[in-house]
Amino acid sequence: MTKKAKSSRISGFYKLPLRERLEAVAEFAGLNEDETATLKREGSLEFASAERMIENVIGTMPLPLGIGINFLINGKDYLIPMVIEEPSVVAAASNAARISRVKGGFQAGSDEPIMIGQIQLVDAEPYAAKEIILANKQKILEIANEMDPILVGMGGGAKDIDVRILEDASMVIVHLLVNCKDAMGANVVNTMAEGAAPFIEELTGGRVHLRIVSNLASYRLARAKAVFDKEALGGDDVVDGILEAYAFAASDPYRCATHNKGIMNGISAVTLATGNDTRAIEAGAHSYAAAGGKYKPLTTYEKNEDCDLVGRIELPLAVGIIGGATSTHPVAKINLKILGVKTARELAEVMASAGLAQNLAALRALSSEGIQRGHMELHARNIAIMAGAKDDLIEKVVERMVKEKKIRLDRAKEILEGMEV
Ligand code: MEV
Repeated sequence: MTKKAKSSRISGFYKLPLRERLEAVAEFAGLNEDETATLKREGSLEFASAERMIENVIGTMPLPLGIGINFLINGKDYLIPMVIEEPSVVAAASNAARISRVKGGFQAGSDEPIMIGQIQLVDAEPYAAKEIILANKQKILEIANEMDPILVGMGGGAKDIDVRILEDASMVIVHLLVNCKDAMGANVVNTMAEGAAPFIEELTGGRVHLRIVSNLASYRLARAKAVFDKEALGGDDVVDGILEAYAFAASDPYRCATHNKGIMNGISAVTLATGNDTRAIEAGAHSYAAAGGKYKPLTTYEKNEDCDLVGRIELPLAVGIIGGATSTHPVAKINLKILGVKTARELAEVMASAGLAQNLAALRALSSEGIQRGHMELHARNIAIMAGAKDDLIEKVVERMVKEKKIRLDRAKEILEGMEV
């Protein structure tokens, strides 16, 4: 008997009770009893684990974990765990992913996981220093690689060197290019940069100051593309509206910041869900967006010959599936299992697709009904509950407030009082 192919296209997922949603995900991802029990527990990060993660711990602060559904990426179905405090994001990504399926989903790719370790050399004659560093490249790489034989054994490690002269500051910056395989890599890169620094001082007679990873991971880009069917989007006007919205972002940094923020709603939510470093990813994304001297959108859009909308995204995504919180946080480990990614590159490709989906959904909503309706329903629910509504009165209060476009605590209380009498 052939095994039924797994699909992330789960209609009515949002209507299921929480426990049934979890069961569907557990079945998709093959979660065991311990893993589902961890997800069922409120407050699934034990204090003992939290204390091993950071200092001065006094508690933990849980956030909602939602599942982005409908994602088809490079022909494979994915359920995407997203941790975020903002309403509408998970629904929007799932919706855009559903639209993308009409034309085959996302096609994604990524570069080798090469990170840059920066070594700042001062008090040296820049051009002579550059020459002697490049002449000793192999020796520098050898010294760096001695710091992590395990990574080297797996085919990773320091692979190349780039030497930049910052004329204005009169300093030399050595970039150590390290293949980090399935780790995010900041630790190994910092260790290698520190390890190679004394030899660079010896060679050049200069003084090494900083030795630290760069979060502008420009060699570690991920990209994704999808064709969004014009009918599924809502017709030619919607396609044109999205292109107009994109043109706004491409020419105005004020709009572009918000455009890219929407992309990062999707990407940061997956970063957090997988225990990766959200600040590193945000820093990399925004510095890459500005790398050409002008702050630009991380996505591009154009129409193809069928007048469908083609969206693309490209950004640095330095994420790992081993090391740090990805390996120690119990829920991050389960989320990686739900994703079913086998390599850090595959994770980056999924994240790029989530970012593109998020952006498409935001532009589509902004170009048509506006963003507030989606946001408002959940907000209205919270207000109704705060006003004291219970059971089926919650939905009734929500419905009235949304219809009246008056989503306020005082109005919720008034409506509720009217209903209870
Ligand atoms: C809100 O978190 C994100 C949006 O503002 C993104 C955008 O404007 O493109 C809706």
